[in-house]
Amino acid sequence: MSMEKAEIVSKPDDLEESWDDEFQKLLQTSPKDRSLAGLDLYFYQGFWFKSRVLKAVISFQEHLRPFDSDVIIATVPKCGTTWLKALTFSVLCRNQFASDENHPLLTFGPHQLVRFLEYDLYYNNPSPDLENDCVYRPRIFSTHVPYSFLPTSIKDSGCKIVFACRNPMDMFISLWFFQNNIIVENAVPLSLDEAFDKFCHGIYEFGPFFDQVLGYWKACQENPDKILFLQYEDLKEDINSHIRNLAVFLGVPFTEEEEEQGVVEEIAKICSFESLKEVEMNKKGMHASGIPNSVFFRKAKVGDWSNYLTPSMVERLEKLIQEKLGDSGLTLKLTCKATSKDHIASA
Ligand code: A3P
Repeated sequence: MSMEKAEIVSKPDDLEESWDDEFQKLLQTSPKDRSLAGLDLYFYQGFWFKSRVLKAVISFQEHLRPFDSDVIIATVPKCGTTWLKALTFSVLCRNQFASDENHPLLTFGPHQLVRFLEYDLYYNNPSPDLENDCVYRPRIFSTHVPYSFLPTSIKDSGCKIVFACRNPMDMFISLWFFQNNIIVENAVPLSLDEAFDKFCHGIYEFGPFFDQVLGYWKACQENPDKILFLQYEDLKEDINSHIRNLAVFLGVPFTEEEEEQGVVEEIAKICSFESLKEVEMNKKGMHASGIPNSVFFRKAKVGDWSNYLTPSMVERLEKLIQEKLGDSGLTLKLTCKATSKDHIASA
């Protein structure tokens, strides 16, 4: 891969003296391990977190007061968050800029237009001013937290949740490359073999994968008007239909006039991997965390895992998929078109 490695100057996240005793104690009594990038992770309520991120999560659980009109983009890391941010923003805010030449995505990165609750807004501030932070309306926030971590203020409000996941083989490879492109001071990245073993044990930030996916899957089955469950592979296969569905789900369907004007196709184009990765801000800009925007754009292929995973790794993950998804009714697509490699976890 041609991307240059990013040097992250901040120290590895760990205990900070300024944190209150209760949180320090929570960390000290939680099981601890290392992320794929070699950073400390803490196991809390069934999932793995970096300490500072967990602090931010607890802050927004306590303080976030959503509007019914807010939209939450919830994703498993490396499953198309950047794409979904661009799509959701373009669908919801499509009447707030004069023309496609003035489209904010030509100037700003998707992660600037839709900010993470835990990495951006609450990262350094337990009670940020969300009112002034969001320029466009409705407000759109994003998060990687599992469904069980969403505050009741979100679950009980009218705000909609758009969730995206991806097959775990591509997700893992995407994550491995991502972590390897971010060198953190004092941290030793893992080899592919070591990283894969950790991934299978669910030990990476926001893991385990299957618990996170199933949490949203079940919630969506119970409340499909509130949660839209998307898969990266489906978006890759037919983006226009998914943009239309997204607009309907969010309560802003395309008018006949917009259809005739080709608005759907324009959104698909402006949000495409090929377009976004050429935008100056995405080539040279930085995310607030110090991560270059360019590392969010790698290959964007379905089935790229087949170039990296050994047959025994594939077998191990296939067994895990079968075991974890079992009778959930959820099908994950390992390749783009339906082939014998697709996993059908039918009831
Ligand atoms: P690969 O590493 O497989 O290329 P996230 O945004 O959740 O961090 O996910 C990153 C993955 O989404 C990367 O996958 C990246 O290349 C891909 N991606 C980024 N922008 C995309 C876009 N506009 N369309 C499709 N895929 C995109």
